[in-house]
Amino acid sequence: MTYRIAPSILSADFARLGDEVKNVIAAGADWIHFDVMDNHYVPNLTFGPMICQALKPHAKTAEGVAVPIDVHLMVTPVDALSNAFASAGADLISFHPDASGHVHSSIQAIKSRGCKAGLAFNPAEALDVLDWVIDDIDLILIMSVNPGFGGQSFIDSALRKIEDARKRIAASGKDIRLEVDGGIKTDNIRRVADAGADTFVAGSAIFGKPDYKSVVDAMRQALA
Ligand code: DX5
Ligand code: ZN
Repeated sequence: MTYRIAPSILSADFARLGDEVKNVIAAGADWIHFDVMDNHYVPNLTFGPMICQALKPHAKTAEGVAVPIDVHLMVTPVDALSNAFASAGADLISFHPDASGHVHSSIQAIKSRGCKAGLAFNPAEALDVLDWVIDDIDLILIMSVNPGFGGQSFIDSALRKIEDARKRIAASGKDIRLEVDGGIKTDNIRRVADAGADTFVAGSAIFGKPDYKSVVDAMRQALA
C-alpha cells in the first residue's frame, strides 16, 4: 500500500501561501489539498482558480518534480468551477455528488480536461451513487467532518464508510485512491488506514505546528 499525505492549505498562513506550499512539500507532502468553499454549498468562503494558478509554480519539490494539486470543490454548481480549476493547473478535482444535478456528466467534464476525477461524501451522505459511476472515477473522498471548516473532530462513523468504500473499490478491480478528509491527526491516522484509507488530508494537524516535517514524519511512522 502506498500511503499519501495531502496537507490542506486551508490551515496555512494565507499571507504567505506560496512559501507555505513550498515548506510543506519540503516537509514531505505527497499532494497539496486545496479546499474550495463558495459560501453557498458550505457557509465558508476560501479561494478560487486564480489562487490555484498562482500556487501551481510552487507545487514542486526542490528537485523540480511536480506535486499534484488535489482540488476539493465544496461548491454548487460544479461544472463551471471544475473547468476553471482544470485550466488553473489542478491535477485531481473532487466534487460532492449532491452539489451536481448531473454527476456522471460532471465527472466526464473533469476527465475531458485531463484531470483525475473524485467524488466526495459528507458524513451523512450514502455511497449509493458509486453503484453507477465507480468505473468512471479515480478517487473517493470520505469526509470525516462536516465540510466547511478546518480543526473539527473526526466523526467515527467515517470508519465504517471507509470500509464500505474499500470493498467497493476492491470489487471494481480499479485503481481508485481512497482519501479521508477531516480531523486526521498523528494519533488516529493508523486507525483510519486500518479501515482502508490510503490518502490522508490533514490541515490543522500539520499547519498548526511550527515544524511540519515532524508531523508528516510522525504520520508516516504511524502508517509504517
Ligand atoms: C473541511 C476541509 C478539510 C479541512 C481539514 O471542509 O475539506 O480539508 O481542511 O482540516 P483538518 O485537518 O484541520 O480537520
Ligand atoms: Zn478538503
